[in-house]
Amino acid sequence: MKILGISAHYHDSAAALVVDGVPVCAVQEERLSRKKNDAGFPLQAIEWCLEHAKLEPSDLDAVVFYERSMLKFERILTCALRAFPHSWRSFPHAIKNTLGEKVWVRGIISSHLGIPRDRILFTDHHASHAAAAFLTSPARRAAILTADGVGEWATLSVGHGERRTDGTNITLQREIRFPHSLGMLYSTFTAYLGFKVNEDEYKVMGLAAYGRPTMSEQLRHVIRRLPDGGFALVPEFFEFQTTADRSYSSKFLDLLGPPRHPYDPIDLDSPEGQRFADCAASVQRLLEDILVDIAARLRQETGLSDLCFGGGVALNGLANARIAAEAGFDRVFVPPAPGDAGCALGAALFADRIYFRNPDRDVPDHPFWGPAVNGHDLARAAREDGQIVNELDEESLIDRVADDLAAGRIVAWMDGACEFGPRALGHRSLLAAPQSPDTRDRLNRDIKRREEFRPFAPVVPIEWADRFFDLPPGGARLARYMSGVFPVRQEWRSRLGAVTHVDGSARVQVLDREMAPRLHALLETYGRRTGVPVLLNTSFNVAGEPIVTHALEGYLTFRRCGIDVLVAGSTVVTKSAAATAKSLKESEAWSSSSEAASTVA
Ligand SMILES: [Fe+2]
Repeated sequence: MKILGISAHYHDSAAALVVDGVPVCAVQEERLSRKKNDAGFPLQAIEWCLEHAKLEPSDLDAVVFYERSMLKFERILTCALRAFPHSWRSFPHAIKNTLGEKVWVRGIISSHLGIPRDRILFTDHHASHAAAAFLTSPARRAAILTADGVGEWATLSVGHGERRTDGTNITLQREIRFPHSLGMLYSTFTAYLGFKVNEDEYKVMGLAAYGRPTMSEQLRHVIRRLPDGGFALVPEFFEFQTTADRSYSSKFLDLLGPPRHPYDPIDLDSPEGQRFADCAASVQRLLEDILVDIAARLRQETGLSDLCFGGGVALNGLANARIAAEAGFDRVFVPPAPGDAGCALGAALFADRIYFRNPDRDVPDHPFWGPAVNGHDLARAAREDGQIVNELDEESLIDRVADDLAAGRIVAWMDGACEFGPRALGHRSLLAAPQSPDTRDRLNRDIKRREEFRPFAPVVPIEWADRFFDLPPGGARLARYMSGVFPVRQEWRSRLGAVTHVDGSARVQVLDREMAPRLHALLETYGRRTGVPVLLNTSFNVAGEPIVTHALEGYLTFRRCGIDVLVAGSTVVTKSAAATAKSLKESEAWSSSSEAASTVA
């Protein structure tokens, strides 16, 4: 049976293909359209999935959309009507925004793919999150927790799942509904702190390490804890439920003070900068406390030892680590794509196991479901451009790259199929020596151009993880997809200065040899050279762009920023000073000729 899953229209669209119960491929639209967080209908992702599997749309048994768009519309309409007349300004905008393709999804899929409407199915948003978390994990029975901004109505759900040879069950017993939402709470603070909602939540998490949760008392006014372990946001402090223009109210500002303007730098040495860091630390602590409570209750209720956690909130590595350490589960599984993009795969798996009742199948435990890189394409492009190109056998390549890293060079590492989900996990990564904060500063200054307070992550082979990092039981599982933040061991903090955050923690990736054997070999060789088998691992992109997918995008990115070496397949390209100077001259000539052209125009 061939099932295509689609998530679209709100944030980070994606498509995924499941054939005979097993994922074949999955990709976010942004990786192909090159538009960061592309939320449009994922036509390129769908086309790539079908082409990759050599299928025509008519071969599909079902196409599954990751949520019930009519229910979502009902929620938007109901909230706007409830808030009338306060919402009268935003009402026409909300309706216009929703009444387009977001509601008429069946017709859109049917017309794009030319398949009959009765082959198009819909899942509940949180069922898609639950399936993405549970059905891709190795657990046969597990408690399930999902939390995000909002789906149709649900913002958090708890339940359990069981995979058996005679059938799979996912039961979501209870849910918390909009506007009471941990995701919206965190996004409100993201906006208040001057960051982009739905994109920059991890900046709040990074900033939290510089502050103390001194505002916990004030935050108790903003959210009430309920006797059943749930929570309720106090509506007077929020506006997201009535307007898209602002998420917090004037009462919120009365309580917490003026917001940060997005263009103001954060000066952590000033009282204002410290107030923002304390605010980030306070909301982070609040989120963690609530999630740990909910997870601990779920553990007590189900008696199960494994937890599968999905939804955008599961990208919060600090909260995940505390759940792993404190909620009582032996293992916590967070999929590589816990957010809405991952729902494309979740929806397809949900349809396969639950709707069609197909037999249970193990899903390969890796994140590499996207387009593969071609080293020969890179060699051709780089040679034509006058760069230094070497095509090496595997052993020489690993030796050579380990030497480059040990010499302090920044290496762009492309290997095989690209990751599904927001994190580079060893196939589209920038790698560097982890020892010196200078490397971190150089990466920030010349390549990533991001805020100083945001940490870089390390990657370590699983065999060496405990030597450098203090992982709780089950922590290595969470660190498989970089989903947890854990302490760097005290004695290694100064020696891992480029990847240790100000509070002594790191969002470490613990690498299993089978998952990415080439990166594993590189880490071991680098470890033999330097005594430290750890590398800095950050996503291969520059600020504001999606992670690179194909060799040519990798090459163009390599050319225009301070990366020293680019590797794809067996090809190693070293930046040639002469070629770079030539390219700069060309681009200067190009820009002056375009200036001249525009003057003439
Ligand atoms: Fe979601």
